[in-house]
Amino acid sequence: MNTTIRKEEEKDHKQIYEVNKLAFQQENESKLIEKIRKSENFIPELSLVAEIDNRIVGHILFSKIKIIGDSDYESLALAPMAVIPEFQKRGIGSELIKKGIDKAKELGFESIIVLGHKEYYPKFGFQRASKWNIKCPFEVPDEVFMAIELTEKALEGKAGTVEYPDEFNEVE
Ligand SMILES: CC(C)(COP(=O)(O)OP(=O)(O)OC[C@H]1O[C@@H](n2cnc3c(N)ncnc32)[C@H](O)[C@@H]1OP(=O)(O)O)[C@@H](O)C(=O)NCCC(=O)NCCS
Repeated sequence: MNTTIRKEEEKDHKQIYEVNKLAFQQENESKLIEKIRKSENFIPELSLVAEIDNRIVGHILFSKIKIIGDSDYESLALAPMAVIPEFQKRGIGSELIKKGIDKAKELGFESIIVLGHKEYYPKFGFQRASKWNIKCPFEVPDEVFMAIELTEKALEGKAGTVEYPDEFNEVE
């Protein structure tokens, strides 16, 4: 089965909602995506879908966030990402992350922050954000709050606390 990874289009919005609902077994993340899409933090090129036989089976979203330190630094949040259960563990999630990282680099972004599975994201180069003294705005175990530099030493000297846009506060 061939998986195509491509940028979302307007016609995909409904399927993206469903994919996230199925993967998370709740609608919070689907609603979060809809809110981010309407916000200034949305980057259309960084909302990617995985498609198999014209069916969307996975989705990943990267949107703008800030690290507030000595000054404000722009970064990206990887959130949410979802692959529908029957298509999981086939590498589709990995393809979405890799393509997203490539695209983010191409667009000139310098780093990505993720709050997620500690065994999964390091495979793609994510490391503990605490390495750069970058903090999550709420209490989380150190190993689940991660970051990746897309350009050399991008996070050096960028110690601070991540500020998630309000949309995120409504998701548990
Ligand atoms: C997290 C998620 C997106 C991963 O998607 P996925 O397509 O299953 O991801 P991958 O297939 O790339 O990797 C998943 C696992 O399958 C393994 N795998 C990858 N390709 C494989 C293959 N061809 N055959 C067997 N296993 C494979 C990976 O090594 C990985 O193993 P791990 O669990 O030990 O890390 C998916 O599990 C999901 O939607 N979960 C629910 C929502 C969620 O928690 N999202 C993340 C938080 S925002």
